[in-house]
Amino acid sequence: MMPLRFDNRFSKEYLPPSFDSDRARAAFLRLKAAKEEGLPVDWMTLPKDYDKEEFSRILDAAQRIRAQSEVFVVIGIGGSYLGARAAIEFLYGQEHNLSKDAPQIFFAGNSLDPDESAALLDYCRDKEVSINVISKSGTTTEPAVAFRLWRKLLEEKYGEAAKERIFVTTDQRVRPGTLRELAEQKGYECFVVPDGIGGRYSVLSAVGLLPIAVSGADISAMMHGARDAMERYRDFSMENDCVRYAMARTALYESGKSVELFASFHPRMQLFGEWLKQLFGESEGKEHKALYPASVVYSTDLHSMGQYVQEGARVFFETMLEIGAPNTELLIPDDPKNTDGLNFLSGKTLGYVNDKAQEATIAAHAAGNAPVLEVRIDKADEYGFGELVYFFELSVAISGYLIDVNPFDQPGVEFYKRNMFKLLGKPGY
Ligand code: PA5
Repeated sequence: MMPLRFDNRFSKEYLPPSFDSDRARAAFLRLKAAKEEGLPVDWMTLPKDYDKEEFSRILDAAQRIRAQSEVFVVIGIGGSYLGARAAIEFLYGQEHNLSKDAPQIFFAGNSLDPDESAALLDYCRDKEVSINVISKSGTTTEPAVAFRLWRKLLEEKYGEAAKERIFVTTDQRVRPGTLRELAEQKGYECFVVPDGIGGRYSVLSAVGLLPIAVSGADISAMMHGARDAMERYRDFSMENDCVRYAMARTALYESGKSVELFASFHPRMQLFGEWLKQLFGESEGKEHKALYPASVVYSTDLHSMGQYVQEGARVFFETMLEIGAPNTELLIPDDPKNTDGLNFLSGKTLGYVNDKAQEATIAAHAAGNAPVLEVRIDKADEYGFGELVYFFELSVAISGYLIDVNPFDQPGVEFYKRNMFKLLGKPGY
């Protein structure tokens, strides 16, 4: 099997020669020194240095949840849910809840919309339910409010036994008014968001691993993919694909592009696009700098955004997320009468046609002056997901240092929270 590959063949001509290797090396070394500066970069060694005892507990809890639940609800927002949701859709597709092999998995607490919340609560009233509430800070309003609603439902349904169905993932510290304090009082099983790992870099910790394991995925293979990527991209060189990608996107930004459009021909990548938007947007979008991360899924969006991508303002470049081979072959049947004129495709697989659509689109966009970068994995499996996660986490960190921002904080996210607390009358605001 081939490892993840990065290719800039459709953008070389746009990359200004001014980008020197000393600058890239300096960014890489700054990242390597970030730990000594006390920055949260433990995700860099997580694929190797994870808590093995907790990993076994995750597997064990996932088995219990699978056995006792028709529905599993993951409550969290931002980095506390996007990675798990991206992984589950990546592995099982957008229709994963049609499978009979796992509990249905829903995501709550990422909005305050009453209709959405009520609909899911109603659906679950007569189902066997388990929940996992995830919040590193343990104080974020959206998941905290959702958790109150779900706790009430579970306590009404199961009484004392509700605690066998409530799983909490939060940071280690017990502080008054936080999720950790509540979990300890109630006796819920807890998993840890490590101190040295920020929300958007946390998918390979318990934050992502418990929900992903409940889906039936092999989380050991996922860690294996991430570990191989970690070894591959460990050292600085101009052949390191994370360095090459970070340099290419920064060079495009500095040549005047303002948007990076993550694109894929696989709907299973839609949530991965959302995860990337958070990873890049929160890591780099500060001090009035950085590319705006956007995402599309083709062919769907070729029929909505395709016109703009081909002929609209040349403010963006595309990063195409490619998957070598589909997990399923679907043959296009023959029609002896050829009424629809499609017999030139008889006997071909749908995957073949999709590949040709991708090839044609990349060539069209490149010809239309939209540079295209490519990131390719062989297969949509656990190993590939682990590789992708590590590749993009390391790349965004290098990239952040290339444009001289701190890729590990998110001061802007706090702004709306403070305003909201004030409007809601939270004590102290
Ligand atoms: O990446 C981040 O830090 C944020 O997106 C957080 O994940 C998000 O705000 C949720 O925070 P918490 O996990 O503390 O509830």
